[in-house]
Amino acid sequence: MTFKTPLRWSDVTPQHLYLNRRQIIAAAGAALLATPALAKSKYSTDDAPNTFEEISGYNNYYEFGTGKEDPAANASMLKTDPWTVKVDGMVDNPGDYALGDLIAGLPIEERIYRFRCVEAWSMIIPWQGFQLSGLLDKIGVQPSAKYVAFETLVRPEEMPGQKMGILEWPYREGLRLDEAMHPLTIIATGLYDKPLPNQNGAPIRLVTPWKYGFKGVKAIVRISLTDQMPQTTWNMMAANEYGFFANVNPEVDHPRWSQASERRIGAGLFAGRQDTLKFNGYGDEVASLYAGMDLAQNY
Ligand code: MTE
Repeated sequence: MTFKTPLRWSDVTPQHLYLNRRQIIAAAGAALLATPALAKSKYSTDDAPNTFEEISGYNNYYEFGTGKEDPAANASMLKTDPWTVKVDGMVDNPGDYALGDLIAGLPIEERIYRFRCVEAWSMIIPWQGFQLSGLLDKIGVQPSAKYVAFETLVRPEEMPGQKMGILEWPYREGLRLDEAMHPLTIIATGLYDKPLPNQNGAPIRLVTPWKYGFKGVKAIVRISLTDQMPQTTWNMMAANEYGFFANVNPEVDHPRWSQASERRIGAGLFAGRQDTLKFNGYGDEVASLYAGMDLAQNY
């Protein structure tokens, strides 16, 4: 009986090719290192981002369950292609748009934003997306419009939480038109150079970094322009706890807990809480939107 020693790659590869391959790998590595990082937006924070695993593993998305790990476990069954977005109300170009057509030509950039949940935890998220203002310009907002309303997909076969009466579906959110047109307001299409994970709201979700996270409606299928303040899911559910504006405000506590500080996800057990900043630290950019308003009344 003969025993064969397993062949090694160097046994079958002429040495010059072997060296070549190593050189190619080294060159590719150097090229990767030399690739300039995505241009840094002037709106990005300098804080170190959370990891992709943290951002995509600890979510609120009740269509997939109420636990923080439910969305990562259940959202892969959602089909996001093809995707149609209904645009209606006070717009010049209403219609049912294929997502690709609706967002074609809108410049996508990275925005590293602070994210503060009303439950008093926070993360730093490197979103990719485009300014909502660009999309609104494209669909032609009419002068009579004062608000933008958004709705999430309803598809109980793929969104098991919708078979339970946890919330009233579809999930709804809204912005005043000046908030929607603000350059900080983006529609995210990705994070960390990857397409948006389903659990974070694929294929498109709203991001308003100076507001509590619940404003960030996921899996958007309808955008409506209206002259009436739209109904929003959490406000319909508990109006005394969740207002329409939802601006991050350490001075106005939630009726059941303080909003003065927050826990940074991933900071470790001993990191301690950090102070919550008014408008989540974006006051220089957005405080003027609320000049003269009582933010304790308009929470
Ligand atoms: N959008 C939909 N459709 N359904 C939801 O349950 N949860 C909101 C918001 N958008 C939610 C949603 C809440 S409470 C938060 S804090 C953020 O999504 C969480 O976003 P993230 O999971 O990407 O961190």
